[in-house]
Amino acid sequence: MDRVKTGIEGLDELLFGGLLRGDAMLVAGAPGTGKTSLGMQFIHSGITRYQEPGIFITFEEFPERIYRDATSFGWDFRALEDQGKLKVLFTSPEVLQQDIVRDHGLVNEMIAEIRAMRVVVDSVSNLHNAGQDPRQFRDAVYSLVNALKRESLTAMLLRELREHEDIGSGPEEFLADGLIMLNRSYVADRHMRFIEVVKSRGSPHIAIPSLFTIGQGGIRVLPPFQEPFYRFEEAVSTGIPQLDDLLGGGIPYGGVYLMEVDADTHQDIFDVGFAKEALEAGDSFIRVAGDSRQRSRWRALMKEAGQEQSLQKGLDSGRVTLLWAGGRDDAEQASPQALGEEINRACAQAAGGNLRIQADLSRLFALLPPEQANAAFSSLTVLCQDTKTVVLGVVSPRTVPPQQLAKLRTAADGLVRVWTEGSYSYLQVLKTVNSARTPAYATIQTPRPPFIEIVRR
Ligand SMILES: Nc1ncnc2c1ncn2[C@@H]1O[C@H](COP(=O)(O)OP(=O)(O)O)[C@@H](O)[C@H]1O
Ligand SMILES: [Mg+2]
Repeated sequence: MDRVKTGIEGLDELLFGGLLRGDAMLVAGAPGTGKTSLGMQFIHSGITRYQEPGIFITFEEFPERIYRDATSFGWDFRALEDQGKLKVLFTSPEVLQQDIVRDHGLVNEMIAEIRAMRVVVDSVSNLHNAGQDPRQFRDAVYSLVNALKRESLTAMLLRELREHEDIGSGPEEFLADGLIMLNRSYVADRHMRFIEVVKSRGSPHIAIPSLFTIGQGGIRVLPPFQEPFYRFEEAVSTGIPQLDDLLGGGIPYGGVYLMEVDADTHQDIFDVGFAKEALEAGDSFIRVAGDSRQRSRWRALMKEAGQEQSLQKGLDSGRVTLLWAGGRDDAEQASPQALGEEINRACAQAAGGNLRIQADLSRLFALLPPEQANAAFSSLTVLCQDTKTVVLGVVSPRTVPPQQLAKLRTAADGLVRVWTEGSYSYLQVLKTVNSARTPAYATIQTPRPPFIEIVRR
């Protein structure tokens, strides 16, 4: 396959060598996520490393900004323009749309003049006018993509997303050959940027979020799998020593970690191990279960694990609080709102000490309206500020609407996925506070605790 290297360290590895020649790749993200930087680097490295001239089309109102931003990365766009290897085209969406459908339009002539092989459009969102018929936007993107393909250009189409805007709802995703998403989040007070090749038609790619940095020389994508940046000195066990090891010692206090576990993939293991560790460590413990059926099942499992007495002791002393989506464990008819109050109460009780919270988010989201479920989840993460708190949310991904799942993933400081494919099951660490990420490891069920073995070759 004829690959067009982006020249961006790490990204070409995720793309198995680069973009396919002639492809139009959509690059989507909220403002400030790094789209323009990525586009500029694609064009710059094309010229300076691969002898492929490029055109940067922008609807930016302040042309000077592009040159200045390029300079901040150490790239001299003016010099490249003088050498006839680069064109920076400042235009309006209307003018561009009329121009590209013409046989001898301005863009056509520019392409011919510098023998351009790459193009960036910053951004296709500008083709969308407020109040416009969505079909007009689709047609505009369609004719743009077609025009670029006719010229055999390899393109990056930047797409600015508004807060909470879902790219999946736009027509451009179907018109483009692939989708790269840029994201950023704050993890334990650290600013982290993520890039993910969500889709690349007709080409293998590594579709997991990867960390990247923007700095001197541009964008650098860190390797997709990596050892933890550092090991925690003090961390809470997940109940599975091998998993603790992959996480860099466990879950640090202050961390909100999410386990995505298919409902039929030994969810029990994660239910019991974490609780057992909490009881044994003497930390305060809150468990938010889904419903009455589930909490009696959990009690039976704890008994099986030899934890009946210590659980009872914890309940008697008030150190252990068992809640369910409706409220307190022993209240059959509690209102959903009672849950927040109960969490408050349990947090107050644990104040000053260590607290571990385990929550079955699937049931929470199934039982409560979305707003209330979100509120309940934030109360888990926000209210316990006077304590040294760890939150482990367990969620079965197929039971939660995709948009809410995406929100949970973003909100979480850590993310572990466990799933089943045929008769095998796998575990993968996707996000941690100390930047550990692993490939998917096969797992084996074992007859004794921790009931799971992670197969690392
Ligand atoms: N020379 C640079 N060094 C480090 N960071 C930079 C540099 N230039 C831009 N950035 C970072 O890139 C971010 C904006 O990137 P940009 O590509 O303009 O995003 P977008 O186009 O998605 O809005 C800024 O928040 C800034 O932190
Ligand atoms: Mg931009």
